[in-house]
Amino acid sequence: MSSTTSEPQARASELRALLNQAAHAYYVLDAPVMEDSVYDRLYRELLELENADPSLIAVDSPTQRVGGAPAAGFSSVRHRIGLLSLDNAFNTTELEAWYGRLLKVLDREPGTALPMVGELKIDGNALALSYENGVLVRAATRGDGEQGEEITANVRTIASVPLRLQLENPPAWLEVRGEALIPDGTFAAINNERQARGEALFANPRNACAGTLRQLDPKVVAARKLDFFAYTLHLPQDWSEGPASQWDALEWLKQAGFKVNPNAALLPDLEAVEAFFEHWDDGRRQLNYATDGVVVKLNDLKLQDSAGFTQKAPRWAIALKYPAEEAPSKLLRLSCQVGRTGVITPVAEFEPVPLAGTSVSRATLHNADRLVELDLHAGDTIVVRKAGEIIPEVVRVLPELRPAAAKRLELPHTCPECGSELVREEGEAATRCVNSSCPAILRGALRHWVSKSALDVDGLGSKLIEQLVDRGLVGSIADLYRLDGALLCSLERMGSKSAENLVAALAQSKQQPWHRQLYGLGIHHVGEVNAKALAKAFPSAADLATAATETPEAITAVYGIGGEIAQSLQQWFSTGANQELLMALERLGFSLASAEEEQPEPSGPAPLTGQTFVLTGTLPSLSRSQAQALIEAAGGKVTSSVSKKTSYVVAGEEAGSKLSKAESLGIPVLDEANLQALLVR
Ligand code: IVH
Repeated sequence: MSSTTSEPQARASELRALLNQAAHAYYVLDAPVMEDSVYDRLYRELLELENADPSLIAVDSPTQRVGGAPAAGFSSVRHRIGLLSLDNAFNTTELEAWYGRLLKVLDREPGTALPMVGELKIDGNALALSYENGVLVRAATRGDGEQGEEITANVRTIASVPLRLQLENPPAWLEVRGEALIPDGTFAAINNERQARGEALFANPRNACAGTLRQLDPKVVAARKLDFFAYTLHLPQDWSEGPASQWDALEWLKQAGFKVNPNAALLPDLEAVEAFFEHWDDGRRQLNYATDGVVVKLNDLKLQDSAGFTQKAPRWAIALKYPAEEAPSKLLRLSCQVGRTGVITPVAEFEPVPLAGTSVSRATLHNADRLVELDLHAGDTIVVRKAGEIIPEVVRVLPELRPAAAKRLELPHTCPECGSELVREEGEAATRCVNSSCPAILRGALRHWVSKSALDVDGLGSKLIEQLVDRGLVGSIADLYRLDGALLCSLERMGSKSAENLVAALAQSKQQPWHRQLYGLGIHHVGEVNAKALAKAFPSAADLATAATETPEAITAVYGIGGEIAQSLQQWFSTGANQELLMALERLGFSLASAEEEQPEPSGPAPLTGQTFVLTGTLPSLSRSQAQALIEAAGGKVTSSVSKKTSYVVAGEEAGSKLSKAESLGIPVLDEANLQALLVR
């Protein structure tokens, strides 16, 4: 008996150590030691052991990074030690003034050289991480510096944040501060995906990171792949084994398993600080994350103590900022882009200005409201901003430079592509062209249909699509499949080989699974995830069309699919042109259905395994038995009375004593929407 209990335990602990070491090498040291496939296999083995016996789940198991149910909100926590901000210096004169003041409070001769540490100022979001006995117990945002929001479940998903420190003998508590960030490449991928789904774009990586950290669902956070650089260490006062300088603290943090920015430098004097600042002015453009300056810190921690703090910032540190990447330019014209869904995006075109290493001459204005907000007039001088990889934007207008009697700029009333009347619905930010045969909408629809996540047709880029539409060769998605090699050859920059390949790629694309075809149709609100869920529930276009037009409640019964999507499907399937498109695709050989032998998507562990629910009151749309069936199908249990073992209480209208009992026991209470969110994970 003892061998059967200790064996899995020993194996689980071995797997944990191996996996954590591999993840540290990969995410922190950037020096992989294990192949992905091996990692995946060992991870699965650990997951199976833990599923079979949940008592094997340790706090630092890599499986605990992704878990966690969506939260209903965040609680506020008071920081053990306040998170201060930094004073800024914008030029070397201000830097020298700061240093002069520092020498004065330390009672040193003017001109004394004190060693300092130069670090990059990472343009992310500050986090405070608390470890007890070496284990991550709490992570909080900065908030107002005194109180932040508790976002531990989200921070656990950040691969470069250790769940357990690599320390033989950790102190009872310690706190680490650092910066969470989204690397530029990841940011671009997130925005591309949002654009494909027709969602609002994040303005920059820092906003994307802040928004992600406040996501209620840790799964979303995990998918966004945040990173974290540690830069401050707080140890208990009486802890004798701590570092004596900031430089040693950074080393200490590395040893403990944190990722420390590799570009810190020990700087002997102010001259070296200035050289460091100059060096990174250019150097930062090669980095794959945003920095807006350097932070200079007195190296000796004892000296830091004697220098102390002002009201809001340490005297022993300063942020030396690079000038904002803003420049004035002259507005030349307002143009409009028409997106795949007909949304009109106003774009400012202006005289080219060099910004963040590139020449910029266009910037999005987002929507009509933004135009009004900026109060843009013809010939205005505008201020444009671009930092790193970030989308250029118009920050403000300089009205004092406005030409006399300049005309206020507004969105046009008609579509710049097809001339039809534009529509703006009540309460919507977007102005749209609703003419389904508008060439701009058609081009967008074609680009979407052939894109990687949809039908994935190689060799059909935007330029070619433009030619096909402009010459009237393609008037719908179906027309793509009627193109022949000879015709394609007659187009610009199209050889016979590429034409042949394209015809073959198109023919091949007819075999793509049903969910990709559905996604490719570009129905409003039907992104990749929803398309998959819908394709699974409705194995053919005919089934989906019937449900969409006759029994919308069958659509909203699908996990994760709400009324807005049902309505959009209903509209789409009731439109004549769309019905014709489906018929044409079928005639061309598309099945528009799940293949018989199509393997279902491998289903992960049921999301609610091991969780117990109590239902109370009347839910807005689900009956008691429907809710119970959904919970059970997702691996959860439903019981009738609330106890300490209850994971969640799902409460509807007129909930009674079960709700008050849940509140008194501190058990999370969900409404129907929260429950649905748990089910779709
Ligand atoms: S030290 C009291 N070091 O800048 C010490 N901060 O403007 C303050 N930041 O809230 C923090 N990189 O979010 C420090 N290497 C770095 C930093 C850094 C970015 C952020 C941090 C802080 C803000 C202050």
